[in-house]
Amino acid sequence: MSALPEKLLLGVSGSVAVLSLPGYLHAFRTAGVRQIVAVLTTTAARFLPPSSLAVLCDRVCTDDDPAGGHVALGRWADRALILPATANLLGTVAHGLAPTLLTTTVLAADCPVTFAPAMNPVMWQRPAVQRNVALLREDGHDVVDPIPGAAYEVASRAIVPSIVVPPAEVLLERLAADAEVPA
Ligand SMILES: Cc1cc2nc3c(=O)[nH]c(=O)nc-3n(C[C@H](O)[C@H](O)[C@H](O)COP(=O)(O)O)c2cc1C
Repeated sequence: MSALPEKLLLGVSGSVAVLSLPGYLHAFRTAGVRQIVAVLTTTAARFLPPSSLAVLCDRVCTDDDPAGGHVALGRWADRALILPATANLLGTVAHGLAPTLLTTTVLAADCPVTFAPAMNPVMWQRPAVQRNVALLREDGHDVVDPIPGAAYEVASRAIVPSIVVPPAEVLLERLAADAEVPA
């Protein structure tokens, strides 16, 4: 097993699960991840203001504020974690498309990439989504299966049985494990 990454690129896409992100960031910092740069999609930045992550991250980048750009971000990172990963993000990367700073950075990243999908169980079970997950794994990406849990559902405005991203300890184990650089 390798050590935890020193330089973590955190990609954040537009799932309602972004609201749990500060707790994960706190756990990553506590575990000893030293530098975290977050890249938010435009949708993620609508759910969670980038400034609210600035306290826990060394830098927060968006499509409107791309810092040094995708190549520099991808070169800087030891590991990348996409948390949460939307169905849209999974499909876009699986097909080699790069319409945003985050997807371009993932394409340019020269380090292992872990995806933590977060979505409604019906979406997750769709053959098209599962095909995209299989494509990502074939290319050497690490995709963490969601686990049964309870999630806030915007449609019903209630906490309902659902599937959720595994706890921070599980993600930290994945980040500390040896992983290949995607083809
Ligand atoms: C309230 C709300 C919650 C959403 N939650 C999710 C989600 O949990 N997972 C998901 O895959 N998409 C979710 N979506 C849809 C994404 O936001 C949408 O596909 C968007 O285009 C994703 O963009 P991004 O991948 O560039 O962040 C949600 C949309 C809304 C309006």
